[in-house]
Amino acid sequence: MPVITCIEDLKRMHKRRTPKMFYDYAESGSYTEQTFRENTSDFAELRLRQKVAVDMLGRNVASTMAGFPVTMPVALAPVGLTGMQAADGEIKAARAAAKFGVPFTLSTMSICSIEDVAANSPAPFWFQLYVMQDEDFVDRIIQRAKDAKCSALVLTLDLQILGQRHKDLKNGLSAPPKLTLPVLLDLATKWGWGLEMLGTKRRQFGNIVGHVKGVGDTSSLMSWISDQFDPQLDWSKIARIRDQWGGKFILKGILDEEDARKAADFGADAIVVSNHGGRQLDGAVSSIRMLPRIVDAVGDRVEVWMDSGIRSGQDVLKALAMGAKGTMIGRSYIYGLGAMGEAGVTRALEVIRKELDTTMALCGERDVHDLGRHNLLIPKGFS
Ligand code: FNR
Repeated sequence: MPVITCIEDLKRMHKRRTPKMFYDYAESGSYTEQTFRENTSDFAELRLRQKVAVDMLGRNVASTMAGFPVTMPVALAPVGLTGMQAADGEIKAARAAAKFGVPFTLSTMSICSIEDVAANSPAPFWFQLYVMQDEDFVDRIIQRAKDAKCSALVLTLDLQILGQRHKDLKNGLSAPPKLTLPVLLDLATKWGWGLEMLGTKRRQFGNIVGHVKGVGDTSSLMSWISDQFDPQLDWSKIARIRDQWGGKFILKGILDEEDARKAADFGADAIVVSNHGGRQLDGAVSSIRMLPRIVDAVGDRVEVWMDSGIRSGQDVLKALAMGAKGTMIGRSYIYGLGAMGEAGVTRALEVIRKELDTTMALCGERDVHDLGRHNLLIPKGFS
């Protein structure tokens, strides 16, 4: 077993073990990938202020997110096709998160269905909703999430139309993969993944297939999504969904101060400053650069979280210091899942928590709640 010391180690293992089609699906951004790159490079522009001779005993990284207790302010973001990175991937990730004490968010576009995950996860999880044109489907899936006792609804606002990722088109991304010659050649070197997949029946979109009108085959993912998602999603529809849900309600994909103010007026339990990991509007600003402006725009009126670009506990600390009350990670746990299944997700979480704790101590802080912009050297004109 190799010694895994950082998220980058898990990423390398993920690449070796998982079919190219699915590794590329995770490791890509839209169009030129500028926003995807800047999500991580902008974190590196922020420097931490080292403090010495400060009592560092009794440190705390535990907190709450939208009222939920968390062992660190990091939730697993919704990621489509997680069950293709490893067999039954959503169940494995949900279990790792529950045991670690952080929330797991199940994507609408998951391979394991809401019911599959509910039956196999030791703790309630959050459900992420994409709004489809088929209102019956939306009504039914909200009811299914309620029946499965999902504890929060995360409504994603930044993907009513799909940002093109070149690699997915070139690879012919589908679930399950179509067995073309290049795919078979690739699978020949990834037989561990193939064996695992043979051992499960969960190989299609568990929440979708057979539930959306007229859909039986989701092999052409891209055109299917553009046909199904509701291009007319607006605040009145968001209000209808919130009322139907009636529980904790989180709005994900906000990257603009005006939208953040609207979300605060609207009364969301939290907003996630996010550009979808650089997968949607290429050329958009990185989340970490936009975060302080949004925090300043909404003040205490709504809890602000952020995602996009977090690859370490240092990044989590920087996001918290910039004013986020919580964070979400996507690829960082997907690398772990693709590398080593449930144990890999646990390892990703352990790495991040250790890095967060150590970095906090070296910044002279003992509690995540005390982090602030005083811990950072922020370059002029950063945000
Ligand atoms: C995503 N993301 C996403 N978001 C969402 O609301 N529903 C979804 O189904 C998906 N699917 C998805 C697939 C893959 C492969 C990735 C990488 C991301 C976006 C995700 O929730 C989150 O916003 C980003 O992953 C955050 O960026 P990092 O942490 O991956 O850099």
